[in-house]
Amino acid sequence: MKKIQISPSILSADFSQLGNEIKRLEEAGADMIHVDVMDGHFVPNLTIGPPVLKALRKYSSIMFDVHLMISPVHQFIEDYSNAGADIITIHPEATNDLKKSILKIKELKKRVGVSLNPDSKLDLIINHLSEIDLVLIMSVNPGFGGQKFMPEVLEKVKILNNIQKDKKFNFDIEIDGGINFENSKLAIEAGANILVSGTTIFKSNNGDIKKNIELLKSK
Ligand code: DX5
Ligand code: ZN
Repeated sequence: MKKIQISPSILSADFSQLGNEIKRLEEAGADMIHVDVMDGHFVPNLTIGPPVLKALRKYSSIMFDVHLMISPVHQFIEDYSNAGADIITIHPEATNDLKKSILKIKELKKRVGVSLNPDSKLDLIINHLSEIDLVLIMSVNPGFGGQKFMPEVLEKVKILNNIQKDKKFNFDIEIDGGINFENSKLAIEAGANILVSGTTIFKSNNGDIKKNIELLKSK
């Protein structure tokens, strides 16, 4: 059983204090930092680019789990790698050659993730599971924090968990969107081992991020 890790999404952080917020998350026990990159085209929102990621790199030594919600994505992979991403997660619909984009990330010696939106089928990535380090299952339609968890995606988590066991693959299963203290248990039971959370971590228990990270980790 893989260790449960928490990847807080800085989309819910104070954007005027991102460096200090990242430091605060590391001190509060975050395992990695989930950085939501949005281009206003693949998703209807616009967040940060490589220069901001580069500026944030010096505030923490823990992994930057960079979720690229941009398309076309291939030509930007190197920029985010150079800016300090440790995990680079892309959406299959955002590249015209998923294998080529996966190889590009591996060439740059970064961990490669592939993300499925709630309506995206496992078939899009099923032939690539042996090549990737992480599958990011979206439990909301990407673009905004604070949305409602879509429990139907747990089916995909269960199937991936079974494939991972049967084929002895080693990819992490990360779930992202609307995660709270109740559905986090369901996600872990289904087989997710990395939980992304923005709203629950930053807003619950009067913003006690250390307590919220611990509560999410507990089974
Ligand atoms: C949504 C992002 C998620 C989101 C999670 O497009 O990919 O990472 O920020 O935030 P919450 O936990 O508030 O749903
Ligand atoms: Zn995300």
